[in-house]
Amino acid sequence: MNNFAIIVENVVKRFEDVVALDYVSFKVDKGELFGLLGPNGAGKTTTVNILCGLLNPTSGFVMVGGYDVQRETEKVKGLIGVCPQETAIYPYLTGAENVELFGNLYALDKKTLKARRDMLLEKLGLAQDAKRRVGNTVAA
Ligand SMILES: Nc1ncnc2c1ncn2[C@@H]1O[C@H](COP(=O)(O)OP(=O)(O)O)[C@@H](O)[C@H]1O
Ligand SMILES: [Mg+2]
Repeated sequence: MNNFAIIVENVVKRFEDVVALDYVSFKVDKGELFGLLGPNGAGKTTTVNILCGLLNPTSGFVMVGGYDVQRETEKVKGLIGVCPQETAIYPYLTGAENVELFGNLYALDKKTLKARRDMLLEKLGLAQDAKRRVGNTVAA
């Protein structure tokens, strides 16, 4: 077993006539904080989707947490957490409900979920607005 959290090797992704990824390779060490930067259309989302097993590369190899993402997708999904920019919060839920939703997705028991929800909302200074719908909250 190698010591890398992520290995991306010669990944190509084609969408019909678009080459979104053109032989992309990089490695991320365990414990390393890694930022993937680039202009719109550079291929960041495509790369992340491939790392999560949501998209298959046209060719190349991707390993996450020691697992081959294409062959051991379920193992990878059990290891990772993803926060996409588009659905970070749901505007029709309250702040508290947004936190509860993600706690439920991780199957936290009710008592733990409640304690963590209250702790987080307090810590982030959102406790007083926690019962308002996010979409109705006007920035001060
Ligand atoms: N499903 C798709 N079908 C066709 N082209 C796509 C699709 N997804 C992404 N692309 C194209 O692939 C390229 C990379 O897109 P993307 O990964 O979304 O870039 P970024 O997240 O860096 O803005 C862009 O040219 C984009 O238009
Ligand atoms: Mg993107």
